[in-house]
Order: sequence, then structure tokens, then C-alpha cells
Amino acid sequence: MTRFESLRRFGTASAKWDGMKMKLGHEDFLPFSVADSDYSAPEEVLDALRERLEHGSLGYTMIDDAYLDAVRRWLIKRWRVEIEKDWIIPAPKVLTAMSVAIETLTRQDDAIVIQTPVYNKFAPAVTYNQRTLLKNPLHYEGGRYVMDLDDLEAHFRKGARMLLLCSPHNPVGRVWNRQELKDLLDLARRYDVYILSDEIHGDLILDNHTFTSMGHFLNDYEKLVVVTAPSKTFNIAGLHAANVIAAHEETRKAIIKDFKRLFLSGPNLLAQTAMKAAYEKGEAWLDAQMEHIENNDRILREFFKENDPKAYVLPLEGTYLSWVDLSHWNIESRTLVEKMKAYGVVVASGTLYGADGEGFIRINLGCSKEQLEEGLWRIGRFMDTLRS
Ligand SMILES: Cc1ncc(COP(=O)(O)O)c(C=O)c1O
Repeated sequence: MTRFESLRRFGTASAKWDGMKMKLGHEDFLPFSVADSDYSAPEEVLDALRERLEHGSLGYTMIDDAYLDAVRRWLIKRWRVEIEKDWIIPAPKVLTAMSVAIETLTRQDDAIVIQTPVYNKFAPAVTYNQRTLLKNPLHYEGGRYVMDLDDLEAHFRKGARMLLLCSPHNPVGRVWNRQELKDLLDLARRYDVYILSDEIHGDLILDNHTFTSMGHFLNDYEKLVVVTAPSKTFNIAGLHAANVIAAHEETRKAIIKDFKRLFLSGPNLLAQTAMKAAYEKGEAWLDAQMEHIENNDRILREFFKENDPKAYVLPLEGTYLSWVDLSHWNIESRTLVEKMKAYGVVVASGTLYGADGEGFIRINLGCSKEQLEEGLWRIGRFMDTLRS
């Protein structure tokens, strides 16, 4: 049985641990910020990497059939999505793929829509490419987020060329259902808008929720591109591995042409090795991980129920990132987060994901039960001082 224990990550150039240590100047904190997990990747993946290194040669590699098969089989097995192998464009990172797709499929100053609050790198992916950023804020109603398709349609009507879809959604934790996605597709089709569906969290689905990949609709809509990755699923984000799935030949060829221009290749040999092992042998580990995340989610909910009943923990449908409404404190999220640091706990301010994240914090549950409990205890001490 996998134990999902947090590893000591200081001294490993960890963006989350060492990055924060550089800012704070000490190690006396627990971070629940950057979206990777603090426990080990699956043993099956580590074994494959060890075996690959034992071989000794670290020479050039290529994307072989086994790689494409592993991706294809994973999508069938986990998402019931059937794709052709030649629809896959291996990429180093989701963000790289997204940025290239923006450059390839839209023109300078074209308007691109994001649905805030959303992963904080979506906005720069648009603006770094000199495109115009448009926001289609999600509706927060009845304690849940839904898309505002009327507002989105207004953007499309005015000529927006692309939507960056976050599915499942980081940070609000929604797993968009089939109907929501179909409605979105209908709208995009009506206005001839590209949808770039970032499905990096698509394997991290909780309880009874069912993930619908946009991959199901690739044959129905030419202007649809899906990006997947094993990085969050198996905690191998440091290796850099992603895959663009594009069914439409012209779209795919255009993206490949830009990959070539940039001499961008897919995952390197270690990333390929890890991804293949994860997709071929990592299923049981992933299922166990999701039980662990569900348990951490319960611990978090219990904590807030007992210690801060006016807080509202959003339902976590997908991802391991919990979105917590602390607006009843009437303190800016950034200030809350800064003050929490003095109590040895680092969470992400909701405003990192857009101004509409004000009042919220994001807590990463991809850690051991003990780490989470200790972090929550520290948050509890901080809240005692807010009350006094
Ligand atoms: C929705 C989303 N997309 C992309 C990324 C980053 O992916 P990559 O490291 O492959 O660029 C993240 C990381 O948190 C994410 O949450």
C-alpha cells in the first residue's frame, strides 16, 4: 500500500520549498502553494528511470511507437477517448504547447478569452504573444462556479478568436460536465472560435465525478485542440512532458511547423521513460492517490467546520487544489496570506488567479495527511489571533 508521505524537499531546487525559502530566509514553513505534490512519484516510474539510467547511454532519442501507444491507450483506458496516434504532438510543457498554439492559430492583437479566476499563467500566455486578453469571469452562485455563456457570447460576437479552457478548472475545482462542454462547443462553433482545452488535471477526479475530455469532440469540431500531460497526475512536473492532441490536419500541421521552427521537441528521454511507465503501470497508484486526496479533502473540511464555520470550502470535483472562501473575514487575500506566513504556513492568494479571486485562498492537498494537519493547525493558531 502506498503511503503518500511528504518528502523533505529542501535542497532539491524545489520551486515550492526552496523558492519560498529564498523569499523568507528560513525553513520554518510548510508550503501548500505551487501545484506539485510533496510525496514520491510512483515506484513503477522511479524503477523505469533507474533502469534507463543503468543502461548508460543518454544519447538522442526519438518519439517511438511505444510512446504514442502509451498515450493513446491511457486516453482510452481513463477517459474513454479514442484518438489516432498521428493526432499526438509531443511537447515539453503544457504552457509551451499553449503558447505555440496561440502563436500558430491566432494573429497579433487577436482577442483571446480566459475564464477567471484561472491558473495564473493563462493571462501571460496571451499577453506575451501580443494578443488581447479578454476575461469571461466564472459565475459564483449557490456556492459553486458555472460558466457565464452570455458574457462569453458577447466576447465571441465582438470577434474573440480563441478560448483557453481550463478543464478541470484550476483553481475552482470544477469538473465541467458533458452538457456544459457541449454548450460551450456549440457557442464556439457558432462564432468559429478556437477552443484550447488544457486538461493537465484531467486524471485527478474525485469521488463520483466523471471527467469529460474535450477529446470526445475532436472529430466534431475542427477548431478544437486538447493538451494533456502526466505531470500533475504522477508528480513528474519537473521532468516536463505534455501532449497536444489535434485531429484536424491543417491545424496539426500548422502547430508542428511552428514546433519545427523553434526546434522544439517532445519530452526528453527521462520524461519519455517516466511517462511511458506511468501510463502503462501507474493506474493503481493513481487510484490510491485519489483516495488519499479525498481523505485530505475531508480533513480540510472538518478543520474549517470546527475552526472557522463561516468559511466555505468549495466542492472539490477535480484537481488536488482546494478553493476556500474566507471572505467573511473582510481581509484582502494577499494580506491573509502574508500574515499566515508568520505562522509558518504558505498558501496561494485567490487574487493570484484574477481580481475575482479576492476573498479566497487556494490550498494544495498533494501532501501527506500529517503535513496537512500540521499546516491546518498553524492556520488555526493564526485564526485565533484574528479573533482576539
Ligand atoms: C491548468 C494548468 N495548466 C498548465 C500548468 C503548467 O503545466 P506545464 O508545467 O506542463 O507547463 C499548470 C500548473 O499548475 C496548470 O495548473
